Amino acid sequence: MASNTLILGLQWGDEGKGKIVDALSEEVFAVCRFQGGHNAGHTIKVNGNQTVLHLTPSGILHPKVNCLIGNGVVLSLNALDKEIKGLQEAGVDFTNRFFVSSGCALILPSHVSIDRVRDKKESIGTTGRGIGPAYEDKISRRAVRFGDIGDEEILRQKVELLVSYHNRLLVELYGEEPHEIEDVISEVMSFKHLYDSYCSDTQDLLYNWVNDDKPLLFEGAQGTLLDIDHGTYPFVTSSSTTAGGVSTGLGMGPKYIDKIIGISKAYCTRVGEGPFLTELFDDNAKMLAEKGHEFGATTGRPRRCGWLDLVALKKAVFTNSATDICLTKLDVMDEFTSISVCIDYEDNNPIYKTFEGWQSSTEGATEFDSLPSKAQEYINFIEDFVGCPISFVSTGPNRDQTILR
Ligand code: GDP
Ligand code: IMO
Ligand code: MG
Repeated sequence: MASNTLILGLQWGDEGKGKIVDALSEEVFAVCRFQGGHNAGHTIKVNGNQTVLHLTPSGILHPKVNCLIGNGVVLSLNALDKEIKGLQEAGVDFTNRFFVSSGCALILPSHVSIDRVRDKKESIGTTGRGIGPAYEDKISRRAVRFGDIGDEEILRQKVELLVSYHNRLLVELYGEEPHEIEDVISEVMSFKHLYDSYCSDTQDLLYNWVNDDKPLLFEGAQGTLLDIDHGTYPFVTSSSTTAGGVSTGLGMGPKYIDKIIGISKAYCTRVGEGPFLTELFDDNAKMLAEKGHEFGATTGRPRRCGWLDLVALKKAVFTNSATDICLTKLDVMDEFTSISVCIDYEDNNPIYKTFEGWQSSTEGATEFDSLPSKAQEYINFIEDFVGCPISFVSTGPNRDQTILR
C-alpha cells in the first residue's frame, strides 16, 4: 500500500510548510492543495535559490511530480497565470502534470475590492486577496466556478448576477465605485488558456491515483489557529485549514490519509490582527524577527513574534489527529540565553517554563544526535508535553537542512 501524507500548519501559518512539502516531494506521485488561495505564501529554497509559491503546490520544482489544485481552493486566474508564467520563465514545465479542479470558486476583481474596503472597517488584517468574499459566495451558491469558463453563455450569466450583487454592496454599503460587468467577463475570458490547459475532474484523477496505489502528499495552507471553525475566530481565514479540509477540498474520504505531519515553528508568529497570548514586545521579539526574517511571504508585513504556546500546540495536534510534528526554525533560537514555552494559562496570561539557551549553532544540522544537548532537551520536552513524536526538525530554509529522526 502506498502511503499518503498530509502536511499542515499547527499555528497561525508560515510554519515552513512549503519547505517541508518540497523536501518530502521527491518520492511522491502528486502534491495536492485542498483549501485557501493565493493568500498563502510558501517559500522553498534549493541550493540558495528562493521560490515563493502562492497557488501552485510546493512539489512543482520536482520535474516528475504531479501537482493538483482541488475544489476547496478559491482561484484567482490572474494570480495563477502570473505564477505559472514566472515559474515557466525559470524553466519549470507544467505540461501534463498540473491539474486544477473545475469546481474551484473563482476570485473576481470585485471580491478583492470588497475584501479591501471591508477590512478597513473590520480590521482582521486580511491579505486583501478577496479570499473571504469568494468563500462567502461559494457557500451562498452564487460563485462562478473554473469549469464555467467552458461555456461563455453560462459564464456571462453567472458573472452578471454575481457582479451586480457585488456592485450593490460596493456602491450602496461602502460608497465605492462599481465594477464594469463586461470588463470582468473579458478579464475572465482572457484566461481561457488556463481552462484549456489545466481544468480537470480532479476527483476522478485522485480516484485513479489512489486505486493505482500512487503515494500522494496533501499540502495545507495557513494554519490550525486560522481555521474558520477552530481558529481564533473572527481573526481567522475563511477555509478549513485543518485535517477535515482535505476530504471536502479534494473529494476523498479521510481513510486515504495515512500520516499527518503538523508543522510548528520552535516559537510562534502571527501576521494580521487577533489574540496572541505569548506575543513578545521586548528584545527577544526583535531577535526572533531578525534572525527568523519574519516578514510575510505574501504581503511583506512584519510578523508578530513570541514564545511557543504548548497549550495551543497540544490542542492543534488533537484537532488534526497529527501523527507527527515537524519542528522548524530551530536554528533561529541558537543565540538566545534563555527560551520560554507556555505550559498553561491563568486569567488569559501565559505561564512559562524557561530553558537555558544552547548558544551554539544548529544551522544545517541533519542528525538529531549532533544537536547541542540543551536543544535536544527543548525538543524532547515539547514532544512529551504535546504527546506527539517530533519526527522532523528543520535547521535552515534549504531543502537539505532537515533532521529526520
Ligand atoms: P509556509 O507559509 O508555512 O510555507 O512558510 P513561509 O514560507 O511563509 O515562511 C517560512 C519562512 O521560514 C520562509 O522564509 C522559509 O524559507 C523559512 N524557513 C523554513 N524553515 C526554516 C528553518 O528551519 N530555519 C530557518 N532559518 N528558516 C526556515
Ligand atoms: P501561509 O499558507 C499567515 C492571515 C491574514 C489574516 C487572516 C485572514 O503562507 O501559511 P485572509 O486574506 O486569508 O482572509 O486573511 O489570515 N493569513 C495568513 N497568515 N500565513 C498565511 O498563509 C496566511 N493566509 C492568511 O494575515 O490575519
Ligand atoms: Mg507563508
